[in-house]
Amino acid sequence: MSTFDEIVSNAIEILEEHHNMVDTLEWLLINRDLNGRVRFIVSEKDAANDARYKQIEDLYSALAKRIAPHAYPVATGILSEYEPEDATQGIVGFVLPGFENVRVIDRLASESRWETIAEVSTGAPRIVFFSIKGGVGRSTALAACTWALAKQGKRVLVLDLDLESPGLSSSLLSPERQPKYGITDWLVEDLVDNGDAVLKDLIAMSDLPTDGQINFVPAHGKEPGDYVSKLGRVWMPKTTLRKPPEAWSKRLKRLIDQLESDIKPDVILIDSRAGIDEVAATCVTHLGADTILMFAIQGQQTWTGYRTLFSYWQQLGVITEMRTRLQLVAGLVPDDERRPEYIAAICTSSYLLFADIYDNVSLGAVSGWNYEEDDDTAPHAPLPIRWNRGWFGLLNLQQRMQQLDEDEVELVYGKLLGFLKNVLERENQT
Ligand SMILES: Nc1ncnc2c1ncn2[C@@H]1O[C@H](COP(=O)(O)OP(=O)(O)O)[C@@H](O)[C@H]1O
Ligand SMILES: [Mg+2]
Repeated sequence: MSTFDEIVSNAIEILEEHHNMVDTLEWLLINRDLNGRVRFIVSEKDAANDARYKQIEDLYSALAKRIAPHAYPVATGILSEYEPEDATQGIVGFVLPGFENVRVIDRLASESRWETIAEVSTGAPRIVFFSIKGGVGRSTALAACTWALAKQGKRVLVLDLDLESPGLSSSLLSPERQPKYGITDWLVEDLVDNGDAVLKDLIAMSDLPTDGQINFVPAHGKEPGDYVSKLGRVWMPKTTLRKPPEAWSKRLKRLIDQLESDIKPDVILIDSRAGIDEVAATCVTHLGADTILMFAIQGQQTWTGYRTLFSYWQQLGVITEMRTRLQLVAGLVPDDERRPEYIAAICTSSYLLFADIYDNVSLGAVSGWNYEEDDDTAPHAPLPIRWNRGWFGLLNLQQRMQQLDEDEVELVYGKLLGFLKNVLERENQT
């Protein structure tokens, strides 16, 4: 009896035993399907050679025996294709350690995945507010940062991508300003080429008094409509005759690119969904984000969640592209005598997490991506947000936002705002 987690290690062991034969294969894909069962996909050429095919069958049988019930009978467990790309259809997967011609690929039910990464967008910096858990003060921080940046005269574009539990709009827009539609409507209409019909009613301007401009795109419109049914469809790839399907993450990026070219913001702030699911994956890896703010509160769940994410990126070989975009934020930091101890503890946990993805630099080496534990400029160094009575359990954040003054925002969100200022300045220089 073997579990899903043991498939890869067992595959390595079995293939090791047949290393010479495996080396002679043109290529081999080990495909884990939606039910977590494994099939081999081999080249047509190898499959057409009877003696070779027999060897492949023997190899598959040996593996199937080891990983049962995660395998098929040998008669249905082996497929063939002319080119590996015909089988992978854009799925990158990873090289089986020790075997250059063997890749493991996954067919996940969720089509947006953590593995492919969009390059940092060249326009206004896109800053994603992400967390493993909800309730850590992420949306409130985003609202406060939006206000502060607009106060400095910036044009800010804000997107509520926490589609399953939207909430930002109530802090940035008064009820009568809510637009007719939201991101969910666009994603559903786009499937039938009707996105333009809702585009102009997607954006609302906040009336919070600032020198800049707050453009807000909510998850849903004033009337959510048939929201549950629409949500069930936003993840759909768009299929057009004679074109390969367009993944929903690509569609979403297309929407953001369009909004950016219409509004010409100085900065784009994105409220992501919490946790490790499709929406979160898309926000973090597919939207061309410049910076991913990782909200954390002290606790096992936070670090286990982030560690899972890091090791997944490592396994897929994308960690070096991801890591330079990350920055830890400590939410709801106690505002009393426990504060220094709390920050020190979260800094240590954060360092332990990041140490896995820092380069190993030997003493005296000058290159490598690496930070000391006590380096304030390190991505693991938490930007603390104070727990503050004035922000707690507000019935009406919109009203609160109307009465804000710079000093109280600075007191609670000062470190985060300083960081964002640097991101914007860096961007202006390039
Ligand atoms: N700095 C803060 N100090 C005290 N309470 C806060 C602070 N920021 C947010 N809160 C409260 O914490 C709760 C969760 O905030 P929210 O921003 O909705 O979190 P998230 O988006 O992470 O789920 C809300 O009741 C909010 O009023
Ligand atoms: Mg939220």
